[in-house]
Amino acid sequence: MLKEADSPYRSIQVTAQPEGFGAEIVGLDLTRPLGRETLAEVKAAWAAHAVVAFPDQPLTLDQLEAFTQQIGPFGEDPFIKPMPGHPNVLELRREPDEKATNFGAGWHSDWSFQAEPPAATLLHSEVVPPVGGDTLFCDCTRAYDALSPTMKAMLAPLQAVHSATRAYGTKGVFARETEKRTLEIITSSEADKSLVHPLVRTHPVTGRKALFISPVYTVGVEGMTTGESAALLSYLFQHMTQDQFLYRHKWRPQMLLMWDNRCTMHFAEGGYDGHLRLMHRTTVAGDTPV
Ligand SMILES: [Fe+2]
Repeated sequence: MLKEADSPYRSIQVTAQPEGFGAEIVGLDLTRPLGRETLAEVKAAWAAHAVVAFPDQPLTLDQLEAFTQQIGPFGEDPFIKPMPGHPNVLELRREPDEKATNFGAGWHSDWSFQAEPPAATLLHSEVVPPVGGDTLFCDCTRAYDALSPTMKAMLAPLQAVHSATRAYGTKGVFARETEKRTLEIITSSEADKSLVHPLVRTHPVTGRKALFISPVYTVGVEGMTTGESAALLSYLFQHMTQDQFLYRHKWRPQMLLMWDNRCTMHFAEGGYDGHLRLMHRTTVAGDTPV
């Protein structure tokens, strides 16, 4: 852990998570606009740690929206109906008696099938169940770094195919779902479209390379047979999700979490049937992966 005198931050306190990535940030009030120096330090800490938690931040929807816009302009959220009067906020609510699988229960990077996937996702906890509901994160930068030079050279020119079809497509998981779900999901043939992004992307702020693929949204590798891409991707997914690259986030009420979709994947764990869980989510626009 950093000693006070060694810290590069003057206006916030940043404590790295022991797992190897992720950090907790205290010493600031997100209900009000941040000053220029504090905002710059928050952005620097976010770039350094990829997943940053701000505990004890009771935020109204307006305050959540305002802080999001201090990070950057809103991203575009397809396939899910936003909150009435808050077109950029999704309410992730799961009732105690809900039987449908919890939302986000598969490794993914948010909306990676978009031409410009969101740089950040912000998730604010209102009601946290007493058991379950952790969010797991994978550090796709360290996972890339750990590959052999030979594997890195093989991956360097590859383009991965991304699509929302498995989740939101006309034959996807949500289209086939029979259990009632509070979250209003809009399945669509739009989701069956696909596009390619570099399989290894370079972070626009840190310059570090990261694997930019996920089991939910990456459906193939351009130029490879189905068998070849399935074998390669399945090896990489197994490599990426080893314990050494993971951070397990445990929620407390009124906590804001902000993660970087450009260099992480996440997985929403269930295990809280019988309990309400209520979160609010925004995204920040990103750019074309390179
Ligand atoms: Fe997600």
